[in-house]
Amino acid sequence: MHKSYFIETFGCQMNVADSELVAGLLEKEGFSATEKIEQADAVFVNTCAIREHAEEKVHSQLGRYYKLKQEKPSMIIGVLGCMAQHLQDDILESRPYVDLVLGPDSYRRLPGLIRSRMESSNSKVDTQLSRFEVYDGMFPSRNEGINAWISIMRGCDKFCTFCIVPFTRGRERSRSVDSIVSEARNAAEQGFPEITLLGQNVNSFSNDGDNFAALLEAVARVDGIRRIRYTSPHPQDMTEDVLNVMATYDNICNYVHLPLQAGSNRILKRMNRTYSREHFLKLADTIRNTLPNVGISTDIIVGFPGETDSEFNKTMEVMNAIKFDSAFTFKYSSRPGTKAAEFTDHVPAEVMQDRLEKIMALQKQHTFERNLEQVGKVEQVLVEKPSKRSSEKWAGRTDANKWVIFNCGNAKIKDMVPVEIIEARGISLHGKLLKAKAAA
Ligand code: SAH
Ligand code: SF4
Ligand code: F3S
Repeated sequence: MHKSYFIETFGCQMNVADSELVAGLLEKEGFSATEKIEQADAVFVNTCAIREHAEEKVHSQLGRYYKLKQEKPSMIIGVLGCMAQHLQDDILESRPYVDLVLGPDSYRRLPGLIRSRMESSNSKVDTQLSRFEVYDGMFPSRNEGINAWISIMRGCDKFCTFCIVPFTRGRERSRSVDSIVSEARNAAEQGFPEITLLGQNVNSFSNDGDNFAALLEAVARVDGIRRIRYTSPHPQDMTEDVLNVMATYDNICNYVHLPLQAGSNRILKRMNRTYSREHFLKLADTIRNTLPNVGISTDIIVGFPGETDSEFNKTMEVMNAIKFDSAFTFKYSSRPGTKAAEFTDHVPAEVMQDRLEKIMALQKQHTFERNLEQVGKVEQVLVEKPSKRSSEKWAGRTDANKWVIFNCGNAKIKDMVPVEIIEARGISLHGKLLKAKAAA
């Protein structure tokens, strides 16, 4: 019997990678992917619980799925990922038409659970977290494109007080260097020019005596990989060894995502971030000194419980001192079950909104200033896709993770080409293709 599936993915890149794992499992089971959700025999939503808004988006999608299922009652609806782990049986209480609820460590059991769901009328919930599951030896069905995602570790032991991840993804565990290297080799053979190593704390990677620096070096030596990225490192675990490996290998991108969260030491402590503002400032300096022309991005939360105006100003001070190349900025969202959810000194919504707007404006200015520094330089750009604005232009990224729009010339997607940066406009760069080389 021919069966089809459809997966929709919310949340971070780990979820994107997990959806590819799930797709691989389903295809092994005889399912094939369909683009038409209304025709699918099984519809999955891979969910995120990081902020309230992320959960709301999933709830509204589930409402849509319910309508589809009324048209096609045999359709199986599965909720996967972090929200499934967080809410477990509660999902079935509010959404009784859901057939399967699986947490992030339960995917190997998905084919069996689909079969048993088809044979019985009971919904199945599997949210057993594992200390060991790293999905070694599985074959993800990768989305076509430039980048192959490779998870190198799962879970998180940091327990930042605002964060749900340690509860939804369980304890930290790392894969072996050998299995990661062989997956990287596969991706290169399949024609992916770029790989991104993924984990909630990539630099606390630890397996059989190998640390993150050793892993990064092993991956950099795989033939055929032109670009290696990784996300996210934790500021506390960033070592000079990692930076030195980055400086040594040309194919490791000159880019670090370094989540600051807040600039006041009292708030950092209350967040249990385990570093001080001084440590962070020094680390940013060390990164810029070791890796000239590096791109540094960050994550910032405004309105953490108890954050005063002057503490918020400290976040802006750190931003001014570092001038990040880009930043993901968030309003604090209380997550039931976390330590911070017990704090009662909430920052009013209007104050949070005002702070968010302030740091967004400040970051926009910094991004522009950093981009201006690029004008006149010649950068190696990986051609990724047609520009949204013009079909005669390509969009690609520099190794410092900056998007550049430039004339197509005879360059093709996946080529690495020299581009002279001629203008910084808004938050993007515009360039001129110098001499297109064929892909290696
Ligand atoms: N492991 C990564 C973060 C993953 S979550 C790290 O430690 O850097 C991505 C970002 O979401 C976080 O860096 C944080 O800025 C934001 N975030 C996490 N929980 C949040 C919450 N409860 N409210 C608002 N933002 C949050
Ligand atoms: Fe969440 Fe902190 Fe772990 Fe990142 S390090 S996933 S923010 S608990
Ligand atoms: Fe969201 Fe889970 Fe990622 S909560 S951010 S999908 S680890």
